[in-house]
Amino acid sequence: MSDAQAPRIASYQADPERVSRVLLLYSGGLDTSVMLHWIQARYGAEVVTLTVDLGQPGEDWDVVVGKARDLGAVDAIRADAREAFARDYVLPAIRANALYGGGYPLFTALARPLIASLAVEHARRAGCETIAHGCTGKGNDQVRIDGTIATLDPELRILAPVREWSMGREEEIAYAREHAIAVRGGTERPPYSIDDNLWGRSSEGRAIEDLDRPPPDDVFQLVTRPEEAPDEPELLRVGFESGRPTTLDGEALGPVELIERAAAIGARHGVGIVDHIEDRIVGLKVRDIYEVPAAAILLPAHGELEKLVSTIHQNNFKRALEDKWAYLCYAGLWHEPLRGDLDAYMESANRHVTGEVTVKLYKGRATVVARSSPYALYDPDLAGFGESGGEFSQAASPGFIELFTLQSRMAHRVRNRDAGVEDRFTGIDD
Ligand code: ARG
Repeated sequence: MSDAQAPRIASYQADPERVSRVLLLYSGGLDTSVMLHWIQARYGAEVVTLTVDLGQPGEDWDVVVGKARDLGAVDAIRADAREAFARDYVLPAIRANALYGGGYPLFTALARPLIASLAVEHARRAGCETIAHGCTGKGNDQVRIDGTIATLDPELRILAPVREWSMGREEEIAYAREHAIAVRGGTERPPYSIDDNLWGRSSEGRAIEDLDRPPPDDVFQLVTRPEEAPDEPELLRVGFESGRPTTLDGEALGPVELIERAAAIGARHGVGIVDHIEDRIVGLKVRDIYEVPAAAILLPAHGELEKLVSTIHQNNFKRALEDKWAYLCYAGLWHEPLRGDLDAYMESANRHVTGEVTVKLYKGRATVVARSSPYALYDPDLAGFGESGGEFSQAASPGFIELFTLQSRMAHRVRNRDAGVEDRFTGIDD
């Protein structure tokens, strides 16, 4: 690795001469472990580590925190952010039916502003002037983390060694060996680059980069392959209150437990596998394999209930705002005022999204099969589909059609006349 420092481009980048106490976002993996040692060696700085629990399955946080201490961290903090993540990030995403690019439920993107805000909070508390993270210079996460930190505290400086140093994986492993840093899972190259939390899991890289091939089976560590899922379907009832999922099969659950339980049931039935070609903020395209069993159940259930209680105008309008919301979240602009404005709308539009939706899970599919709400705008009696007639008048329909189609019919006629076409057939039958 070279000590040559890339020129500082942005105002928030750390000045190497002034790095003295650093808060490092620490996962326990190779990159951040090498970094923890390297920052102390390179800058003679003190390092406080922050490890954020977002419900990543199978992590042993005591081991991660212990490793940070062993590698010289003056303090090793573990923050349990599961509740805040579920409540303040995932629930708003559900209200916004948030999917980027039509398939990605944004679990990584949602987590980054929370991680960054915790980093700011703990950096201030621990007297650190610099925050360090392990993002590369090619991904979205650097945009989300740098952007959020620079927004929340312009005084803080940011160090992203992976983006700046020229260490490849081999050099990192050599560095780890040289400094007795244990490498989790051995020095065998891990097959994929993984990120996960309670809202989903993603895999990128290596065999996944062969776009012309299906993903290898070993990608799937969370969701059962649909062909191996149970032969019996399972019905799951999801209850909502004002757009928030609150019950599963009638049992009241807090958001973390509800999401985790939905994920477990979905995973068993092979639900939530997404093979996604994605436009990164930094211009690159990438292929991600997502395993999102909870989102595959809760998003369609929510969307279905919302459709039932909202008017045609609300339903048509909201979709455009949802795309905008998902884009801002993806792009890391969590604190952009427009996102807050859109949230206010999402909350208002969800006031009556209360009721229950039944989802059928079967061999990789989650299908809504039943729904009910006290606010449903579906009322066969009121609409006069039943015997009684109700408020709906079929006799009024021809008059409605005449006025509703007036401009379209006129335009058709006028344009055809200009084009010199006989306007004999410009009636309703066209
Ligand atoms: N493409 C997604 C995003 O930008 C997920 C990235 C997760 N990172 C990974 N190494 N798998 O939000």
